[in-house]
Amino acid sequence: MSEFNLPLSNKVAIVTGASRGIGKGIAVELARRGATVVLTYVSKGSEDLVEEIRRTIESFPHKPRVHACRVDLSTLEGPQILINDLLAWSEQNLRVDILVNNAGVENSSTLAELTVDDYNTVYNLNVRGPLLLTQAVLPHLNSHGRIINIGSVASRGGFKKFCLYGSSKAALEGLTRTWAQELGGNGTTVNCVNPGPVQSDMLDNIPKDLVELQKTLTAVENRIGTVSEVANIVASLAGKDGDWITGQTISASGGYAMY
Ligand SMILES: NC(=O)c1ccc[n+]([C@@H]2O[C@H](COP(=O)([O-])OP(=O)(O)OC[C@H]3O[C@@H](n4cnc5c(N)ncnc54)[C@H](OP(=O)(O)O)[C@@H]3O)[C@@H](O)[C@H]2O)c1
Repeated sequence: MSEFNLPLSNKVAIVTGASRGIGKGIAVELARRGATVVLTYVSKGSEDLVEEIRRTIESFPHKPRVHACRVDLSTLEGPQILINDLLAWSEQNLRVDILVNNAGVENSSTLAELTVDDYNTVYNLNVRGPLLLTQAVLPHLNSHGRIINIGSVASRGGFKKFCLYGSSKAALEGLTRTWAQELGGNGTTVNCVNPGPVQSDMLDNIPKDLVELQKTLTAVENRIGTVSEVANIVASLAGKDGDWITGQTISASGGYAMY
C-alpha cells in the first residue's frame, strides 16, 4: 500500500470519547487511513462497544494497532492517568502525532435554571479536559503534530438553553488559536472542527424543533450531517493536507453555519 491510500501510516492518534458517535467515526477513519489509534471512553457500559470498534479496526487489511483506555477526562487526574497508561502500553516510548479532543457533554439548562454543578460538569470535560490532556501530551508530541478540538456550531449560535455548552465550545475556539501560535514552531497545527447536528446519542437530547430549524437552514440538502462527513474533515486535517492550516475553526455543518 502506498502513502496515498494509507496517508496516516506510522502515525499514532489519540481520540477521546471514541466509544460512540463522532469520536468512534473519527477513530475508525484515522485507522482506515493507517494510523495506530488510542480510543478513550468513560463508562463501563461502553466496554462492549469499544471491543466491537477494536474488532472493526483490526479487521482492516493493513491491521492497524488499537489500544483502549477507560478514563474520566473531566477529573483533574484523568489526563495523566491516560498518559501513564499509554507509557506502559508503549513500553515507556510514547510518541503521539495526532490528538483529537472529542469527548464532550451537553447541558440544556437556561441561565435561570443552571447550577454550579452543571457548570462544573460541562466545563471540566469540555474545556479543562482538552486543556490538561493537551498539556500532558506535549512532552510526547512529535513535530508536525496535529491537535484537533471538536467544538460545535453552538459556540456561535446563541441557542437558548445552551449557554454552558455553547460558551464551553467558544472557549475551545480560543484555546485553539492560542495553542496554534504556541505550538506552530515545529510544524504542529491546532484546529477546531465545529459540527452541526449529527445523528448520535447526544443529538437525541437536543430539542427536536431546534434540529428541524437547523435542517431548514442547512445549505447542503437541508439535512443533518453524518458521522463520516465530520470524520473525513478531521482525518484530512490530521494528514499532510493539513500542513498549512492552523488556528482555524472549521464549520462542519453543510453550510448551516458559515464563518
Ligand atoms: N452529535 C452532534 O450533533 C454534535 C454536534 C456538534 C458538536 N458535537 C460534539 O462532538 C463531540 C462528540 O459528540 P457525540 O454526539 O458523538 O457524543 P456522544 O455520542 O454523547 O459520545 C460522547 C463520548 O464521550 C465520552 N465521554 C463522556 N463523558 C466523558 C468523560 N467524563 N471522560 C471521558 N470521556 C467521556 C463517552 O464515553 P462513554 O461511551 O464511555 O460514555 C463517548 O465516547 C462532542 O464534543 C460534542 O460536543 C456533537
